[in-house]
Amino acid sequence: MADSQHTGAWRLARPVFFVGFMGAGKTSVARCLADACGLDSVDVDEYLERNEGRIISDIFAQDGEAGFRDLETRYLKELAQLQPRLIACGGGAVGRPENRAIMEESGFVVYLEVTADEAAARIPDTGSRPLFKDLDTARGIIAQRTPLYEAAADVRISTVGRSIGDIAEGIKRVLTDRGILLNERSEAPQADEGRA
Ligand code: S3P
Repeated sequence: MADSQHTGAWRLARPVFFVGFMGAGKTSVARCLADACGLDSVDVDEYLERNEGRIISDIFAQDGEAGFRDLETRYLKELAQLQPRLIACGGGAVGRPENRAIMEESGFVVYLEVTADEAAARIPDTGSRPLFKDLDTARGIIAQRTPLYEAAADVRISTVGRSIGDIAEGIKRVLTDRGILLNERSEAPQADEGRA
């Protein structure tokens, strides 16, 4: 990206939530954009694991999916209230109306689209994702969730065949155009403004 130095010039007006199926690139794109603009990014699953002291697959095994979803909602709510940042959500976070309401009311939602085949190719170890069992199951879940991703989305971005940097660059443009990503320097009055 052209301006990838950490100049501190960029700021978010609202939190930005990245949604989409596993392997869509939510965490990598959020990190790439954060690095390019000197912003903070956070992955809800990683935040949840750190706070709970347990990994996702153990939480699913010990508390079931419902237990995991309760924790997901709790931490999503917590992150939405912090100073605005880029928030990569788990692929199933759109399932609960309460989660969609948190995203819609407090932030801007970027939906990263991916196919089951491409997701499978991008995820080297599906063992860490209890719901990514096989391609057919993944296709079924994507079909079931697509209307929810679309309903939550303020913008929809196809990721198929694109690099992380290219996707992040496109999102940066969208967020700037929509007034979500603000450049402090261009907002600040220039010191020599008005001089001949
Ligand atoms: C899930 C996606 C995972 C994680 C959990 C459940 C899902 O997150 O939250 O395994 O239901 O699709 P990623 O999308 O970050 O892999």
